[in-house]
Amino acid sequence: MLINKRQFLQSLTGLAALPQINLEVLMSSVEAQSPQQVAQNEVFWSELRKGFTVTKDFIHLENGYYVLASNEVLESYIQHIRDINPISSRYMRTRQFDDKLTVRKQLADLVGASHEEVVITRNTTESLDTIISGIDWKSGDEVVMAVQDYGAMVDMFKQQARRYGIVNKIISVPNHPASDEEIVELYAQAITPKTRMLMVCHIINVTGHILPVQKIADMAHAKGVEVMVDGAHAVGHFDFKIPDLHCDYYGSSLHKWLGCPLGAGLLYVKKDKIKQIWPLIGETNYPDDDIRKLNHTGTHPVHTDLALADAIKFHQKIGIQRKEARLRYLQSYWTSQVRNHPGIVVNTPADPKRHGAIANVGVTKLKPADLAKMLMDKYKIWTVAIDYANVHGVRVTPHLFTTTDDLDALVKALKELA
Ligand SMILES: Cc1ncc(COP(=O)(O)O)c(C=O)c1O
Repeated sequence: MLINKRQFLQSLTGLAALPQINLEVLMSSVEAQSPQQVAQNEVFWSELRKGFTVTKDFIHLENGYYVLASNEVLESYIQHIRDINPISSRYMRTRQFDDKLTVRKQLADLVGASHEEVVITRNTTESLDTIISGIDWKSGDEVVMAVQDYGAMVDMFKQQARRYGIVNKIISVPNHPASDEEIVELYAQAITPKTRMLMVCHIINVTGHILPVQKIADMAHAKGVEVMVDGAHAVGHFDFKIPDLHCDYYGSSLHKWLGCPLGAGLLYVKKDKIKQIWPLIGETNYPDDDIRKLNHTGTHPVHTDLALADAIKFHQKIGIQRKEARLRYLQSYWTSQVRNHPGIVVNTPADPKRHGAIANVGVTKLKPADLAKMLMDKYKIWTVAIDYANVHGVRVTPHLFTTTDDLDALVKALKELA
């Protein structure tokens, strides 16, 4: 393991440093391999794992909540706190906004959008609730969403229903669709002349099902309906650019697949839609069509914004194609071993274009909560139980530091329990 400059300095000053890897050297070792070849190169991934501090107490397969940051990103984050703390208000008054603009531009580049359409928020909840609360709703306006959508957004729509009399129409997405058209049609059927907005998950968090968002957006736009995408789990997970989705609004959490320390999100608003959104937090310093009006944060942990640049750098050194291929490979690696096993139900589509790292699995004779508890108590495998709508099982979310040995332990446990 090579020691980098920061580790060397820390060893001189006596501050404990987290183990670091030389990512540039590691990446050059796989330069000649395709993403699919790298995806199955266990030697490479076990070296990369050394750049994360992973618990030895349990097998961590619940990385959907948020993903632990790599040691490299974590060290930079801690350094930002150390740097800003002594100068406190001077940093806030003189450098905060320029630094945030620099990172915002990097984030916008990452998702293929103009920085004039992107702001850094705290999370998806803040991003999408800003939009839901910012629309001038009229009584009778209709919104289409799915029962598999995330509770915080659905709750915000319920609040608008109570406050303004909007009507929320809830569809249910099948776990194993026959085609994109089947899903598009489901959403289309729920649209009426009163429908104003459609909310759709880019990837459903409880099943890991990636939805054909662009086709849904094109269908909705043809009927005059705006489209808001919940991309909480998408940025940093698989390769896409927001403008290619043809949506009007997009929110994501960057402490998930991008590996930023807690408290970073993205809000994208298509340029011509910015004007119509009222800010959630009052802001009069910017014109109505400037997205910064939606980003008045008050005093907040600015070191997270700075660490976002480090997370983007780490992510880009690995490369989104390699990351996507590895995450999809890990999911298929274990689901393919249990998908047709008696007593086991996989609630995530097998088609690779419909999933990434996340999958949901049930054991028919066990309640999801009991399955999650047994996996943890008996096998030290940490997952999360999901038990509503058409999803009854535990969500399993590997990450870049997950090994195939971890997944072998999961497969063995599931087969024993079934
Ligand atoms: C689909 C989906 N949307 C929104 C959220 C909310 O994300 P956050 O808590 O980071 O705001 C989550 C969180 O897991 C999610 O899975």
